[in-house]
Amino acid sequence: MQIFRELIRCATLAPSSHNTQCWKFQLGQNSITIQPDFSRKCPIVDPDDHHLYVSLGCAVENLEIAAKAHGFETQVDATHPEQGIEVKLEVKDATKQTNPRSDPLFDAIGVRQCNRGVYNGEKLSSQDLGKLQEAGRGEGVQTLLLIEEKDKDTIKDFVTKANSAQMVDATFRQELKSWVRFNDKEAKKTGDGLFGKCMGHPSAPRWFGGLIFDYGVNGKSENQKISESIKSSAGLAVIVSVKNDPVHWVEAGRAYERFALTAASLGIHNAHLNQPVEVTTIRPEFTKALNLPEEARPDLVLRFGRGGEAMPKSFRRPLEAVIQQ
Ligand SMILES: Cc1cc2nc3c(=O)[nH]c(=O)nc-3n(C[C@H](O)[C@H](O)[C@H](O)COP(=O)(O)O)c2cc1C
Repeated sequence: MQIFRELIRCATLAPSSHNTQCWKFQLGQNSITIQPDFSRKCPIVDPDDHHLYVSLGCAVENLEIAAKAHGFETQVDATHPEQGIEVKLEVKDATKQTNPRSDPLFDAIGVRQCNRGVYNGEKLSSQDLGKLQEAGRGEGVQTLLLIEEKDKDTIKDFVTKANSAQMVDATFRQELKSWVRFNDKEAKKTGDGLFGKCMGHPSAPRWFGGLIFDYGVNGKSENQKISESIKSSAGLAVIVSVKNDPVHWVEAGRAYERFALTAASLGIHNAHLNQPVEVTTIRPEFTKALNLPEEARPDLVLRFGRGGEAMPKSFRRPLEAVIQQ
């Protein structure tokens, strides 16, 4: 069905860890089921598949927002995400299928991106902060906003410490490199991965990009960028689940996507600084520093702010590659 394909296209515009697009879609008569694609997992940076399930949550959120804009009533079953997340779709207003309702979050689906550039450092109004915090709330999920300089510094110390650990880990570097697309040709061909241009790097042949990655990207160079990028941000956000299981990780992804779409609709950029939640030896310390209970899971660390330029868009695989036959 053409309309279901359009809903899936909107879902695939969601963010995913390393742009792995770790999802598959199964079409039903009156439903679309989003399934994990474990062949696209990242065992080093994401040993428990947390980021994989968060990414599925982002895609589900886009799908549901797009479905509602297209006149569907929806019902989401994410109780067993390992087996798939079913979105039941019932037509409520068929006229919207050809003429979708305008809605700030739906309109933001094609605009949202992770913007790794430098922002203008200006503070946000309390009204904007309130909208972001509300958007990042879910069932058992909350979003902490940190805007005071001392709090930003505390988080920065964790991010740089965890980044230093990742940058000297050969297996982490190897996995990351395998997802970097150093030039337009590679990025277009695979339709996935971390496109160099989105990270502010010029296009380069793989052999040359690889050399720069191996010898020019290190803890010191990246920590400097992290410090500058945090300084230029209006604030940092930490998305937190009360429980540490796939059901909550999907919910955290949904909350993050609402946060990101709301931000985009307000002209606010966001980007990830997930190092302290990825390095398993640092995460407990980070959880404690945020005054969270031991069983909680800090899911994502983000920065946000206005200013700076839009970055080139990352690529997506064609629908044929993600729709199950
Ligand atoms: C669960 C998750 C984890 C991510 N982790 C990082 C990260 O550690 N560093 C980063 O720069 N981007 C991170 N990203 C952003 C992705 O790289 C980005 O979504 C992907 O490249 C697609 O680009 P787009 O969001 O601009 O469409 C993450 C995204 C998700 C959903």
